[in-house]
Amino acid sequence: MLKMKPVTLVRAAERNWSTLLLIERSVSGTKLYHATVNRAEFEKEFENDIRYLVGCGVDTVGMVMYKKRTSAITHISALAIKPQWQGRGVGRAIMSFLLQKLAGIPQLEVVVHPENTRAVNLYQSLGFEIAARHENYFGDGEPRVLFVKLNKGVKKHISATLRPKRTVVL
Ligand SMILES: CC(C)(COP(=O)(O)OP(=O)(O)OC[C@H]1O[C@@H](n2cnc3c(N)ncnc32)[C@H](O)[C@@H]1OP(=O)(O)O)[C@@H](O)C(=O)NCCC(=O)NCCS
Repeated sequence: MLKMKPVTLVRAAERNWSTLLLIERSVSGTKLYHATVNRAEFEKEFENDIRYLVGCGVDTVGMVMYKKRTSAITHISALAIKPQWQGRGVGRAIMSFLLQKLAGIPQLEVVVHPENTRAVNLYQSLGFEIAARHENYFGDGEPRVLFVKLNKGVKKHISATLRPKRTVVL
């Protein structure tokens, strides 16, 4: 089996909007993920997010975005891996990074379609639990569940390799 190259996270700059949008579009067209495919809407929706492009070797394979809702709650607003890169551990690597980076935040949340088995399995395996269900959360007639992970007040140590601000190699 081929060995996976390291997964890298790089803070996305203004010039990266097109790349972020292309990744969002690559996972659109399914009821399981509510993609925003219009550029203006996409930039508006995520303008206040912390945005990362995710690489694997020389390839850009996905993205993740999150925002602070309150001083106690951070919301993971988008996590998308290009279809050909899914199921190879990239999503788990990204989430492991986020959980370490956001270990001091009391509550993390993410909204998922209940039939999005891959995402549901990923979040549940990392300690997220269903806190609420909405039958038409995005107005697309599809249900969504709110997954929440509570950090019990212990600020975990972030290892030196995860400290650099702009580029992180996992
Ligand atoms: C959901 C998503 C982010 C997961 O990322 P990924 O890189 O494909 O997932 P990983 O390979 O890291 O797998 C993570 C876990 O998902 C689950 N999983 C992976 N493939 C699966 C499959 N075919 N069926 C069911 N569960 C699966 C497993 O629990 C796996 O854990 P493991 O490491 O113990 O095997 C990715 O598939 C994606 O971008 N999907 C489209 C957009 C989307 O739905 N985003 C989530 C929005 S909330």
